[in-house]
Amino acid sequence: MALIGDVTTLLCLMFIIQMIKSTNQARSTQLIQLPDGFITCKRSDPLVNKCIQKALQSGVPRVLKGYPNLDVVPIDPLYITEMDIEQTKGPFVFKLSLKDMNIFNFGSVKILSIKSDIDKYLFNLNVEFSQPLILDSNYKINGKAIILPINGEGKSNLTLEDVKASIDVKGRPVAKNGQNHMDLEILDIKFTSNRLYINFENLFNGDKYMGNNMNKYLNKNWKMILNQVQPSFEVTLGNKLQSIAQAFFTKVPYNTLFK
Ligand SMILES: *[C@@H]1O[C@H](CO)[C@@H](O)[C@H](O)[C@H]1NC(C)=O
Repeated sequence: MALIGDVTTLLCLMFIIQMIKSTNQARSTQLIQLPDGFITCKRSDPLVNKCIQKALQSGVPRVLKGYPNLDVVPIDPLYITEMDIEQTKGPFVFKLSLKDMNIFNFGSVKILSIKSDIDKYLFNLNVEFSQPLILDSNYKINGKAIILPINGEGKSNLTLEDVKASIDVKGRPVAKNGQNHMDLEILDIKFTSNRLYINFENLFNGDKYMGNNMNKYLNKNWKMILNQVQPSFEVTLGNKLQSIAQAFFTKVPYNTLFK
């Protein structure tokens, strides 16, 4: 009888410990507050990449205007404080500073495919934008296009059509509050575009004739200009997306997303 009593006590104790454990778990997941309907994926799912693609794509409309609970800033327009480009070689040498840039239509992103190694924190995304990316900013430029000097400051509009991009993400595990999180080490973006439209307002102190001619010249040579501004743009955009994703992964444990 004594033995049965002891076993019962032990079982009760184990039951209580288990209860406390699961309440704590429930509490810590409650704190995270993933957006409603947020899809999580199973590592063991043979179609896990399809699941991630669905989760991300369905998350896009939710993060358009940002998600303050998760420290996620709006992605459409995507705001970039400053981007500086200096081109010292080639037919077009210039120093271009773009400030207070808003990228419109970023939310038109379509995720085409995903490759992942969840245990190694590796992801590759192929995406395209169904609408042109409009980079609306304040600019300042100084330089020389072949033999013509170019200078001015004001509003600028750089519009990229048919943008496709490949995004590589590499992370590593970090422990935070007893949970496993992903720390983003690298976010690399490479993109292609079929056309860049360029418009610098107020070139040459507002000289309309010279300004129009220069914009025409720049648009005629859009390919060369895109080649020159693309690396800086990719780095700036990559850093921005990395900080957005990092904010999310700092809040949401990796194991909550991938069970
Ligand atoms: C920028 O230029 C594009 C293409 O020329 C145009 O469709 C768009 O309306 C312009 N956007 C702004 C904010 O000026």
